[in-house]
Amino acid sequence: MSLMENKIIEVKKVVKTYKTGDTTITALTETTESFDLGKVTLIMGPSGSGKTTLLSMIGCVIYPTSGAVFFDGEEVSKYSEKQLAGVRLHKIGFIFQQFNLIEPLTALENVMQPLLLMGVSKSEALERSKIALEKVGLGNRFKNLPKKLSGGQKQRVAIARALVTNPQIVLCDEPTASLDSKSAVMVMEELKGLAADGKAVIIVSHDLRLRKYADRIIYVEEGVVSNTISNEDDYK
Ligand SMILES: Nc1ncnc2c1ncn2[C@@H]1O[C@H](COP(=O)(O)OP(=O)(O)O)[C@@H](O)[C@H]1O
Ligand SMILES: [Mg+2]
Repeated sequence: MSLMENKIIEVKKVVKTYKTGDTTITALTETTESFDLGKVTLIMGPSGSGKTTLLSMIGCVIYPTSGAVFFDGEEVSKYSEKQLAGVRLHKIGFIFQQFNLIEPLTALENVMQPLLLMGVSKSEALERSKIALEKVGLGNRFKNLPKKLSGGQKQRVAIARALVTNPQIVLCDEPTASLDSKSAVMVMEELKGLAADGKAVIIVSHDLRLRKYADRIIYVEEGVVSNTISNEDDYK
């Protein structure tokens, strides 16, 4: 496949500023980047540097102050809030540091949520969610509430929930920050496998240990994206 065919997300000259009272904070200065299917991209940088801001624009969570975001060549940054919610639900899986599981729901019910939101029937949602949990090694945890699961297990439920809709893009914000190193390795292996299956996996982290899992690393410092490094020489 050519580079063109792999490119799933492009941000073009995006800038994000926040106004609070009299002051304007530039969270991200003008940035142009693209992200490929089949690759793990790691976005690294110190706290407050603009990593989550960049990820949130890629994930159609916030609009850029200027510039444009393209999904599959389609300019999504001019979509309405409602249309963007649809893009998020259908095309993107999100995985966060704090797992964001719904506490009163079982592991299985948590995984079913995005499918039910999409209007999938309950019986189909049940079947697909069981398969998704089995894939992350939690086939024996369907009925557990989040509080009965370890950190690593909770993050794997969150991964199953992110993947049950079969999104092309998986976005992770500090996915291993709340995990012990053994669980972190399992989660990273899982994410690496998703890229091998052809998904675009984009991970924000300040954990240097994650570098070995990346096909490409982007550094962000004080809102400036730089030093884009590829671990591979296949960008021909
Ligand atoms: N909603 C917001 N309102 C005001 N300032 C914000 C908001 N979100 C982020 N910022 C500021 O933008 C900068 C970058 O934040 P962020 O992208 O969260 O950094 P990181 O994820 O690298 O820690 C920080 O200075 C932060 O305080
Ligand atoms: Mg952040």
